[in-house]
Amino acid sequence: MNNYVTGAVIRRLREARKLTQEALAAELHVSGKAVSKWETGQGFPDISLLEPLAKALHISVLELLSGEDIVNRNRAADMRKGKFYVCPVCGNAVHSIGEAVVSCCGITLPPCEAEEADGEHTIRAEITEDEYYVTVDHPMTREHHISFLAAVSDQTVQFVKLYPEGSAEARFKIDRVRKLYAYCNRHGLFQARPVLPGGRFF
Ligand SMILES: [Fe+2]
Repeated sequence: MNNYVTGAVIRRLREARKLTQEALAAELHVSGKAVSKWETGQGFPDISLLEPLAKALHISVLELLSGEDIVNRNRAADMRKGKFYVCPVCGNAVHSIGEAVVSCCGITLPPCEAEEADGEHTIRAEITEDEYYVTVDHPMTREHHISFLAAVSDQTVQFVKLYPEGSAEARFKIDRVRKLYAYCNRHGLFQARPVLPGGRFF
C-alpha cells in the first residue's frame, strides 16, 4: 500500500456515520482515547484493526486507505464517462464505468487522464465496411509501445491488448463508437474522436 489510513479520514467517516469516538472504540475493543489519538495524528490504528475499522465505518479497507468512500452514483452513467486505470508495475489495465478504487501490485491507481492524440500518438481510423481499422504509427519495442487500443460508445467498450514487437493496430465494430483510445506505456493515455461513416465528425 502506498498510503495508510489518516486521522482526518477516520474522523470524517466516523462523523458521517454519526458514531461517537466511544461508540467506534467499543466496536473495535479499544479505548475512546485510542480513537482520539488516531484522529489527532498522535498514533495509527494497528494493521490488525484495519478490517474491523473499515467494517465499522461501512467501507472497504481499500477505500479506507485511499481516503475516499466511493458512493456509486453512476448507475445511469454511460460508458463514455468511464475511466481507464493502468498498473505501472505489471501493465494490467482496467476500465470502470464509474468511479472506483482500483488497486494493483499494492498501488492504488489513479484514473488515467486522456490527452488529445497527436504527434507520434496520432490515432488513425479507417472505415472498412462495418469496422474501424485503427492504427497508431508508434514504436512497439519492449521499452516503448502502445499497450492497448480501445473504442468506447455509450454502451460498450471494445478493448484490444497489444504486445511489444506486435503492431499497433486493432479492428473495432463501428457501432456507436464515440471515442478511440491508445495507451502508451511511456506517455500515457491518448484519445481521438473517430470520423463517422460518410465523413461526418461527432
Ligand atoms: Fe509513446
